[in-house]
Amino acid sequence: MRRTSIQKAVIPVAGLGTRFLPATKATPKEMLPVVDKPALQYVVEEACRAGLDDILMVTGRNKRPLEDHFDRNWELEEALERKGDATRLSRVRESASMGDVHYVRQGDPLGLGHAVLCAAPHVGNEPFAVLLGDDLIDPRDPLLTRMSEVHQRFGGSVVALMEVPAEQIGLYGCAATAPTDVEDIVRVSDLVEKPDPRTAPSNYAVIGRYILDPGIFDVLRTLLPGRGGEIQLTDALQQLAQSTSAGPVHGVVFTGRRYDTGDRADYLRTVVRLAAEHQELGQDFRAWLRTYVLDSMPADDLDELSTVLVA
Ligand code: G1P
Repeated sequence: MRRTSIQKAVIPVAGLGTRFLPATKATPKEMLPVVDKPALQYVVEEACRAGLDDILMVTGRNKRPLEDHFDRNWELEEALERKGDATRLSRVRESASMGDVHYVRQGDPLGLGHAVLCAAPHVGNEPFAVLLGDDLIDPRDPLLTRMSEVHQRFGGSVVALMEVPAEQIGLYGCAATAPTDVEDIVRVSDLVEKPDPRTAPSNYAVIGRYILDPGIFDVLRTLLPGRGGEIQLTDALQQLAQSTSAGPVHGVVFTGRRYDTGDRADYLRTVVRLAAEHQELGQDFRAWLRTYVLDSMPADDLDELSTVLVA
């Protein structure tokens, strides 16, 4: 059982982003702005904060803008320098100096498990982290650091879990768990990808952060397609959870702030929330938002609100 500290992060970014069409026809969904940065930059920043500065992006067709974003842009930098715009210059340079970013292409879109398998030559025989771009984790709630601690203690693999309402569990990988002597850590005994809510083993959803034992690659190499005809990472983890040599699998039960950017409505909620909390823009934005909400509220709702506020 390996208990080495984690250095490498794998970020699968080959998805087509069909839920956001036509916005994502020529722009990768990971490049959609969340307030003033592409969604993916939040994820890369999170990895770097947790000390994972070797980052491998598993990309696909039409993902060149991602590579450009995490690279230098000399023309732009020179133009900003000439203008003396130091603030924007440092913002532009920031995204080119975040860790050591590598790329590998996933030729065929065969699923998340297959994307992770594409990372095998780069990762080698050491534990590594996987971060999915649709989940943003608030920097004030350092989930990856906690997962690394759990990995140090138990070895094997660690998944991030969040309790969701029973009717939503069918949107996620779902874990059957047993408690440990630590409140936020559970032992995972089984996993199922996007179960029918009526037969789901729990309401613990796997959210997009994983620390994986490299033994997962052997499982992925022979894994048959699962849900949706895709090679599922959840199915490979299920095998690790029941394996004596490449297990165990533990879960960190996360109760912090997670922002979903996976579909249009969640994305909009994330943008509004992060804009309202933004250091420079937040104050004015909140004032505008308050007026907008009050102005657009039907009179009955306004009466109800004032009753609640007075009570
Ligand atoms: C993927 C995983 C799923 C996990 C989810 C977290 O699903 O397959 O197990 O719960 O990410 O966001 P997707 O949302 O890509 O369909």
